[in-house]
Amino acid sequence: MNFTWRSPSNIALVKYWGKHGNQLPNNSSISFTLSQAFSETTVMHESKNENGKIDLEFYFEGVKNENFQKRIEKFLGAIVPHFPFLTSSFLKIESSNSFPHSTGIASSASAMSALALGLCSIEKQLLGTLANNDDFLKKASIISRLGSGSACRSVYPHLAIWGENKGVALSSNEFAIPFLEADEIFKTFHDSILIVSSDEKTVSSTAGHELMHTNIFADIRYQQANQNTIKIMDAMRAGDLATFGLIAEEEALTLHALMMTSNPSYVLLQPNSLKLIELIRTYRNDTKQPVYFTIDAGPNIHLLYPHEIESDVQNLIKSELSKYCENAKVIEDKVGLGATQIV
Ligand code: DP6
Repeated sequence: MNFTWRSPSNIALVKYWGKHGNQLPNNSSISFTLSQAFSETTVMHESKNENGKIDLEFYFEGVKNENFQKRIEKFLGAIVPHFPFLTSSFLKIESSNSFPHSTGIASSASAMSALALGLCSIEKQLLGTLANNDDFLKKASIISRLGSGSACRSVYPHLAIWGENKGVALSSNEFAIPFLEADEIFKTFHDSILIVSSDEKTVSSTAGHELMHTNIFADIRYQQANQNTIKIMDAMRAGDLATFGLIAEEEALTLHALMMTSNPSYVLLQPNSLKLIELIRTYRNDTKQPVYFTIDAGPNIHLLYPHEIESDVQNLIKSELSKYCENAKVIEDKVGLGATQIV
């Protein structure tokens, strides 16, 4: 049997930064599910005699990839308790991304969620479990999280929340849940990604999370994130763009402040990242248009804005912003519908 899933990347508004135990977050986070940046993964399964080992062949963009193969083998080994059938399976996995490698877009969220969904499809077919769609997505979210924390938010449409928060019913550290109450305006939001640099990050997210264990601001940061989750949810319910933007920008700059105050300290923002932030804020002050930014664990600036001002923002990008991007590169993305099964 084989199954193909297409799963998107996501961009956090309130950031997950710091974890404990088996991939459990130290605070709640919320993200937009994107649509244009996605991974498409086919998982082919054949039963074999149980021999305690996982037999895997992994292809990335049509080519056998030993590096990725090792990472996936390790991941599959770790999730055998969730999928006992893995040790009596031969798996051939083929994965590709809609965006070229090293464009400055992280692929772990889309790749790990697409793989997790494929494995859940196999379980469903083999064992007849996960017939209920909510149960299916919940397990896919748990497995995605074990691959890469932020991946657990990618399976849901529009917006997803991950991490236990007293103010959010049904929230959990183990899986994400969809946030269904946001005003319609957020369901067609744009994310134009201004690529300041497509170089690989000098410090990985995994290493960054680790440094939170000794960051002197850690405890207050986790409180702030939990409060910001509630505040941004309220703002999104009310269609309050100004509060939404205030929190998104505070979160982005806090994330980078945490990197700068880690020990050892590091800086991922570049001069052009700061230039773009300044230009975006100036444009907003001058025009009163609701254009905001967020930033991932890298130098690139994500421009967030509602669909109705798309053409104005495109003019801004062309006339003022793209000159601060690497080769004038901007990747256009927008909020999307979550993961979809292709086969
Ligand atoms: C800055 O999910 O990539 O994008 O769990 O170690 O795989 P691992 O980390 P990862 O961290 C993402 C950090 C972030 C913020 C976010 O997406 O919430």
